[in-house]
Amino acid sequence: MSKMYEPNKGIFQNPVFKDMDDYKSLVKKFDDDYADTWGELARDNITWQKPFTDVLDESKAPFNKWFKDGKMNVAYECVDKHAKERGDSIAILFEADDGTNIKISYKQLAINVNKTANLFMGEYDIKKGDRVVLYMPMILEAIYSMLACAKIGAIHSIVFGGFSSQALRDRIIDAKARLVVTADGAYRKGKPYMLKPAVDEAMKSGCETVQNVCVVRRNFETIQTEPKDSFYDEHIQKQSEKLETVWHDSEDPLFLLYTSGSTGQPKGVQHNMAGYILWAKLTMGWVFDNRPEDTFWCTADIGWITGHTYIVYGPLANGTTTVVFEGVPTYPDAGRCWKMVEQHGINQFYTAPTAIRMLHKTGQDEPKKYDTSSLRVLGTVGEPIDPPAWKWYYEVVGQSRCSIVDTWWQTETGGHMVSPIASCTPIKPGCATLALPGISAQIIETDGEPTPIGEKGYLCITKPWPSQIRTIWGDDKRFVKAYFGDCKIHGKPVYFSGDGAMIDESGYITITGRTDDVINVSGHRIGTAEIEASIKYSGHVAASAVVGKPHEIKGEGIFAFIVLKDEGSISKDDLKLELNKILKADIGAIALLDDIIIVPDLPKTRSGKIMRRILRSIVKGEAITQDTSTLEDANIVGIIENLCK
Ligand code: WTA
Repeated sequence: MSKMYEPNKGIFQNPVFKDMDDYKSLVKKFDDDYADTWGELARDNITWQKPFTDVLDESKAPFNKWFKDGKMNVAYECVDKHAKERGDSIAILFEADDGTNIKISYKQLAINVNKTANLFMGEYDIKKGDRVVLYMPMILEAIYSMLACAKIGAIHSIVFGGFSSQALRDRIIDAKARLVVTADGAYRKGKPYMLKPAVDEAMKSGCETVQNVCVVRRNFETIQTEPKDSFYDEHIQKQSEKLETVWHDSEDPLFLLYTSGSTGQPKGVQHNMAGYILWAKLTMGWVFDNRPEDTFWCTADIGWITGHTYIVYGPLANGTTTVVFEGVPTYPDAGRCWKMVEQHGINQFYTAPTAIRMLHKTGQDEPKKYDTSSLRVLGTVGEPIDPPAWKWYYEVVGQSRCSIVDTWWQTETGGHMVSPIASCTPIKPGCATLALPGISAQIIETDGEPTPIGEKGYLCITKPWPSQIRTIWGDDKRFVKAYFGDCKIHGKPVYFSGDGAMIDESGYITITGRTDDVINVSGHRIGTAEIEASIKYSGHVAASAVVGKPHEIKGEGIFAFIVLKDEGSISKDDLKLELNKILKADIGAIALLDDIIIVPDLPKTRSGKIMRRILRSIVKGEAITQDTSTLEDANIVGIIENLCK
């Protein structure tokens, strides 16, 4: 068993959880009285304009309702409340690519959110329930736009800026968005880059629901102006700084965020207001030991769930200072993050294993050049962290003083699920440790039997929790099938995460990775079916199968097995170039293939199903343990193995 590291109690003053007894007693409280315990937390942590009548209504499970009939407002919770109580405290610390800083107090944030909300309502006629797509860089206006939507009850759907115009168009169409907010572009590594041209391209067909495109000018590069365009800066000045809070129902939708699943079509994961914000706020305090006087930095992009929950909603609900960073961690050099930690006195730093591996590789000793003593907690998310990266993070970045929280969660869970609590949980490298209080994580077989200790099983959440995905936008049936179709306990479907995991003698959970056709590149989820659907656009390809291949920095890289229509019609290198051009246009740069191999056929069952598990074993160089007797042609396995050598 690997070494356990006890939390450094001296650095946590008066934490929510002083020790594991505190953790156990809250877990017990949930066991004894599940709904009442959630109800108490919701009453204590959210301002209710009208109290809820029921904590949890499971009568239409899995379409559960939390805090029914309660009235609240997420933007009030994140902004106005703090603006009233401690308006001069800094809400957002923006650091631009070039190192310039802008500090926005809660009072100023309230004004900017109100003005943006008034702009959306007045100029663009946005009403409660309308969908607003944000295709934005990491700039202040992106955060104002999110919170403006929350304040008026419009539903934002952020599309990561790395997605292509085609991917953006698909998401605009699926959400039937009325407004798109974008920017000319922004800066990365000292150079301007563009976003607006992708919006122009997307808008060329099929986006008729969009009435307006609001453009924030950030890099002032030349852009084309289309009839639906108008500029944020030309309208924002004249907006009123005041906007009365309208109170929304607990279960009104807050946002959609599209993510990949095991079919070709991305899923619009829907989160609703009260449950989401409650868990975002609680996990900030519990997991990170974050307090209002702290400065918290999550390096994610707001285009991903980590950015939603731990750059915007969680930190602001907790009243802390959140860092919003436009640039990249390695520019101008691999010391950028640690320089920022020193300069801003950052207390909690949250990033992905890919970034940790990259910073370890390119700047092993960089952290030592800066005073990083303000740090108490270091977080990681998105993919399993390997022990060498963990050790460097712990010993060099954290100087063996900070807690590392390896947080397991998903777009669908809204916030952390299995994670150490910085102030009390003894940690183990590469291990997400224990389910948080209130979260019933279990590792089971598909029939609900617990998986034996030390063996891989399916990671399921057996009870509803407040920040749970409510549905897939416009597709209730798919929601039920995607999450409640695979695992059952006593015949009752339970939420299946798509991840495999193992439990040890002490109940600690280690995540072993996706068990479905989703790969995790640099912590970004990509469905193999989406990639295969794009590859079909090549005239050379008869069939393809895409799998994840272990990658030193990215965790997993994308590897494609290709069967050509005409053998010898194109070289491997030319085909790879062609496919990557297609993928870049169809999905975006995050979907580029690392490598391909041309094969005579794929391992298929007699019914025509591709046995991807065999291909996964081949790229990992593992022995084939799967039963190959059901294959149409078992010889193909050996042929592909030889080609991959
Ligand atoms: C993976 C990101 C190992 C997992 C918040 C999950 C992790 C997917 C961890 C969700 C972790 C997330 N250790 N794997 N600590 N955290 N994952 O929706 O496979 O972008 O299902 O949400 O990332 O990715 P998503």
